[in-house]
Amino acid sequence: MPIAVPRFGVHQQTTIPDVHVGDLSTLVIRPATVQDVHGMSALINHYASANVMLARGPQYLYLHIQDYMVATAPAAVGRHEVVVACGAVHVLWEDLAEIRSVAVHASCQGQGFGGRLVDALVDRCRQLGLPRVFVFTLAAPFFAQCGFGEFKREDMPPSVWVECSKCPKFYCCDEIGMIRML
Ligand SMILES: CC(C)(COP(=O)(O)OP(=O)(O)OC[C@H]1O[C@@H](n2cnc3c(N)ncnc32)[C@H](O)[C@@H]1OP(=O)(O)O)[C@@H](O)C(=O)NCCC(=O)NCCS
Repeated sequence: MPIAVPRFGVHQQTTIPDVHVGDLSTLVIRPATVQDVHGMSALINHYASANVMLARGPQYLYLHIQDYMVATAPAAVGRHEVVVACGAVHVLWEDLAEIRSVAVHASCQGQGFGGRLVDALVDRCRQLGLPRVFVFTLAAPFFAQCGFGEFKREDMPPSVWVECSKCPKFYCCDEIGMIRML
């Protein structure tokens, strides 16, 4: 059985394709599949290159694919689907999860879709039996609208610090910690 050879170079997506989205309410937010990883990577790393969210490499996305939810829409050119939104719930402990990688395609922003995506991630936390969920973000007003409030980092348990210590921003973090009780 041949192994899947990583696709570098010419196959790598560097831009996010334009999409045809008529009515955003028709878009379905669903669990991600491995087929979504290239699109998720393009969306996340597009914003990461503008320093508004953390970059995620393909290995990270494959390893954590079960954390992710996505929505797709038809490409403006061609017949393929484009990932227009993604976000993840990463469980850290019995009473705590982190929302990660929340991103919405520019042509779908400002119409409540980010809010719908966060609602879906919060519902996932409830289904998992979690009593609280937090996020580190530069988009604090957006998460405030989604029911999150600021917390002090010093109040967070060691499981959060373990995750933070893996982050390239560990010594110079500019993100705001926000939490929501469920
Ligand atoms: C943040 C993001 C997911 C919001 O998606 P969206 O579909 O535009 O969100 P909604 O339409 O549900 O809500 C928009 C509201 O959030 C606010 N908002 C959106 N992005 C914001 C940001 N970066 N900072 C502060 N507020 C923001 C808007 O002002 C808007 O408020 P209003 O309705 O009072 O005008 C989207 O802007 C995005 O993908 N940004 C780039 C990636 C990013 O910053 N992700 C967060 C990392 S954790």
